[in-house]
Amino acid sequence: MNHGVLQRYGNHLPIGTATPIISLGEGSTPLVRSRALAKILDCSEVYFKLEGSNPTGSFKDRGMVLAVAKAIENSSTGIICASTGNTSASAAAYGARFGLPTVVLVPKGNVAEGKLIQAKVHGANIIMIDGNFDSALGLVNSLVEKHPLTLVNSLNPYRLEGQKTAAFEIIDELGEAPDILSIPVGNAGNITAYWKGFIEYRNAGYSNSLPIMMGFQAKGAAPIVLNHRVENPTTVASAIRIGNPANWDSATKVRDESGGIIDSVDDEEIISAYRIMASKEGLFCEPASAASVAGLIKLRSLGMQFKGKRLVCVITGLGLKDPELPSSLIWPDLVEVGTTFEEVETALLNYTLRSGVSNG
Ligand code: F0G
Repeated sequence: MNHGVLQRYGNHLPIGTATPIISLGEGSTPLVRSRALAKILDCSEVYFKLEGSNPTGSFKDRGMVLAVAKAIENSSTGIICASTGNTSASAAAYGARFGLPTVVLVPKGNVAEGKLIQAKVHGANIIMIDGNFDSALGLVNSLVEKHPLTLVNSLNPYRLEGQKTAAFEIIDELGEAPDILSIPVGNAGNITAYWKGFIEYRNAGYSNSLPIMMGFQAKGAAPIVLNHRVENPTTVASAIRIGNPANWDSATKVRDESGGIIDSVDDEEIISAYRIMASKEGLFCEPASAASVAGLIKLRSLGMQFKGKRLVCVITGLGLKDPELPSSLIWPDLVEVGTTFEEVETALLNYTLRSGVSNG
């Protein structure tokens, strides 16, 4: 049974006897070896850390469980966050389960449908603002100064403390830190959390080395790459449509300390990686998650060598959350037929002809 990250990694987390060990079964997510990406990168050891396997379908649950446990410990009356969708889905689920009223501020028209439904079904109070994520985060920051609600964005240090457990799991599974960790960057909390986890586990003697950290922003929302704020961030990857990341400074520190990079990938590269993931790896991730795959493909095409290295690519969220994008792309036609055997068989034969499936 999965008892969650507080139980599994409690001795590496800032919890005490008064902290409730709560869980929705987050963490302990699969590390799956790549087939297609490994070929593209000419590298035999490429793994995906499938964070979409968390209870609400994204990595946010690892940090939310600790932020909520601490909120309960501190007798909080409710939690609040700004979100591009996944944080709000996670806050809503943990809030519902552990009895904390939850308020989420989301940018109107900029949150994927599946994520909004999650916040709705869990009963969160959803406030849609006529602005982007950056203004929502600014508003939430001001609101918590005046109202007794606990902020559960990644400015809450417990969020990052919880999220660092993903790095522990990778080392536990591989027996050593990977050579390279590739990860999408939005508000820049997750890259900060992973680095913290890798350092702490190395210092505790569980690994000898640290990875090179490679973060990828979307080109239309790449403030860290450009080294200036982006007022109107745009990208197909709504989860990372962020122009002024809260953890900006710590992300550049991670980049520099690890000898890594923070680069950007355009929407075309993101969609191409997203399709490779779905059609060649059998992994349906959300567009933002595909940024980490797209980034590696881009670097390889620019001549970077990965041969002999061990790579982990963080797949941050589940594709089902964002159903709008796939239907706007060109996918194989649906075949509509009647119910006779002949009609269905003709459709089948047409399909096998197209896809090269042989008889028997
Ligand atoms: N991938 C997904 C699926 C995300 O939802 C996010 C962030 C990121 C990557 C980037 O992570 O912000 O730690 O750099 N989503 C936030 C949200 C902003 O509100 O759900 P980050």
